[in-house]
Amino acid sequence: MEKLIQYFPTQLEEALRQDTSETLGSGGSYQNVLIAGMGGSGIGADFVRGFVREHCPLPIQIVKGYALPSGIGSHTLLIASSYSGNTEETLDVVAQAQRLGAQLVCVSSGGKLLEMAKQQQLEHVKLPGGIPSPRACLGYSIVAQMQVLVAKKLAPAELLEQVQSAASLLHQEQELIRERAQHLAQAIGSKLPVIYSSTALTPVAIRCRQQFNENAKILCWHHEFPEMNHNELVGWRGEQDEVAALLLRQRDEHPRVEARLNICKAVFDQYAGASIEVIARGNNLIERSFYLVHLVDWTSLELAKLRQVDPSEIRIIDFLKEALKEV
Ligand code: PA5
Repeated sequence: MEKLIQYFPTQLEEALRQDTSETLGSGGSYQNVLIAGMGGSGIGADFVRGFVREHCPLPIQIVKGYALPSGIGSHTLLIASSYSGNTEETLDVVAQAQRLGAQLVCVSSGGKLLEMAKQQQLEHVKLPGGIPSPRACLGYSIVAQMQVLVAKKLAPAELLEQVQSAASLLHQEQELIRERAQHLAQAIGSKLPVIYSSTALTPVAIRCRQQFNENAKILCWHHEFPEMNHNELVGWRGEQDEVAALLLRQRDEHPRVEARLNICKAVFDQYAGASIEVIARGNNLIERSFYLVHLVDWTSLELAKLRQVDPSEIRIIDFLKEALKEV
């Protein structure tokens, strides 16, 4: 896992260099976009939707489960994202959407999804295979999904240039980020992390929770501003010594969100066992998001070390997938 995390900036560059012109076409007429994927293969969609928000003329929906949303038909661009290509929920959604005539593009390293793409001559992006942890393929997943949207002229190619500049930033900052991650992990220690961010950084907060869950084997939760101001904030009453509040922040937030974060930081300072602010580096949302992803990925590894757990194993997920085969 350490090597895979270290490789992340290079993974972004490798993904950007991949020539997709043979397997992706620029054709197609669409009215909406649906991205289906679970876990490490689903989180990329949250980032991509945020990155293209101001550019994509069509609504983008994300499905993480079995239920197909309404409005799916032959006018739908369906991006199915599964690293293994065998994830039950994603394959189920693909089958339902194909019955309604959706135009499918597969993003996968193999399995049933890639087999289907080859048999049905569907558009696809083949991800490099042989990586044991799909969550360590986030760079491949995000770039592939962006390449699909760029090929379909639903996002500008300049966004991929921003991914390249993010990769350069991470190469430059890697050692400092690692040091920062060590301090962060020490500050969290054995406390329960509660991660807060603005909605713009919610994908990073989700990534952070998932990496803490899977790599460090701990429970934690996340919430976003301003929504948490209308409910969860009330839970901050009295000392919460066992909780570490982690605020993910960036420049250029909506001024009222900024004000809310500042006011609430004082509340967390007063009541949380640890109140930690992490400020992203970078010139735009893509750079800042990748900066924070890299930081929280390293932090999850440091937490795994502190807790003396193997960051790679996910025996409980494997057990569940096997048990489901019997049902
Ligand atoms: O991190 C993991 O291994 C999981 O979250 C998987 O990504 C998830 O179970 C879905 O599998 P796949 O990525 O192969 O579709």
